[in-house]
Amino acid sequence: MSEIHRASTTAPVNIAVIKYWGKRDPKLNLPTNSSLSVTLSQSDLRTHTTASCSPSYPSSDSLLLNGSPQDVTGARTQACFRELRALRSALEAANPSLPKLSSMPLKIVSENNFPTAAGLASSAAGFAALVRAIANLYELPASPTELSRIARQGSGSACRSLFGGYVGWEQGSQADGSDSVAFQVAPASHWPEMRALILVVSAAKKGVSSTTGMQTTVATSSLFTSRATETVPRRMLEMQKAIQEKDFEGFGKVTMMDSNSFHATCLDTYPPIFYLNDVSRAAIKTVECINAATGKIVAAYTFDAGPNAVIYYLEENEKAVVGVFKAMIGGKDGWKGARGEKVEGNKEGL
Ligand code: PMV
Repeated sequence: MSEIHRASTTAPVNIAVIKYWGKRDPKLNLPTNSSLSVTLSQSDLRTHTTASCSPSYPSSDSLLLNGSPQDVTGARTQACFRELRALRSALEAANPSLPKLSSMPLKIVSENNFPTAAGLASSAAGFAALVRAIANLYELPASPTELSRIARQGSGSACRSLFGGYVGWEQGSQADGSDSVAFQVAPASHWPEMRALILVVSAAKKGVSSTTGMQTTVATSSLFTSRATETVPRRMLEMQKAIQEKDFEGFGKVTMMDSNSFHATCLDTYPPIFYLNDVSRAAIKTVECINAATGKIVAAYTFDAGPNAVIYYLEENEKAVVGVFKAMIGGKDGWKGARGEKVEGNKEGL
């Protein structure tokens, strides 16, 4: 029997507080603006991936996600495989005693512990885990920055899941994307009191994919240019300052304003894109009521390309924030997964 080489890893979901929306190069996933996210803890929403290779495998690469075979012939997945194989080939060329893993078919097996493609950034954790699992399998001496450049080609937001804590993605200016990489703004330990409550409004697959949505927004929205060239660059600086200073009011205000701005450009797209629904809008109202009752910003909502709400708050305000949501929808499933426990539903700690 021929040998099987194997490596496993997990990668967490990240939820952007300054959204990536728009591609200047759709092939390389180069964005029209920088973005910033918070990476959830490994114990919460994550993808677990095992990469293996063997000369005995069927000749083509394969990927199984939550037990279903996936198409790996798409340009995104191929770009990741190609880049990682090229790095492994270079290692093998420099050290001829290494097994020739780069020429063996790959078998990737991934499991998400949350709904796939429901606006919960599943592709981010998915491609980050895929790239890191193969990099581990190939024993590549690649830094998280270099892996972020590769994962970006799978799914833009995936580049941010290669780092923990508070993570930026620099849009970069090079045509080859070499400087469009993620960087850590601060580790999770810098501000460990940060929490995220995730309200899964709908676990259905999203209506308009982010790639299609972004392209239509760039082509048709009149709000898009000012967002990409003025609003986001200013907010990137404000957000990094708020994180450095652990200023939740600053963090929360920019988070909510950026979510509003992103969904405004979606509505301004022609034909319009609606990711928020009535339940999402009720969550926004609830956050506004909590903040008004407290007299300051203690909760901040944000929504990706789907109706699910992510609400950031500090641990000290758990009662004021989670308590209110629980009073309203405590009858629904999913409140069991406290921080660090196995997740069953829709409440997460960072
Ligand atoms: O990486 P993609 O193509 O799934 O796009 C992600 C887009 C948003 O989630 C809406 C925003 C972001 O920055 O994560």
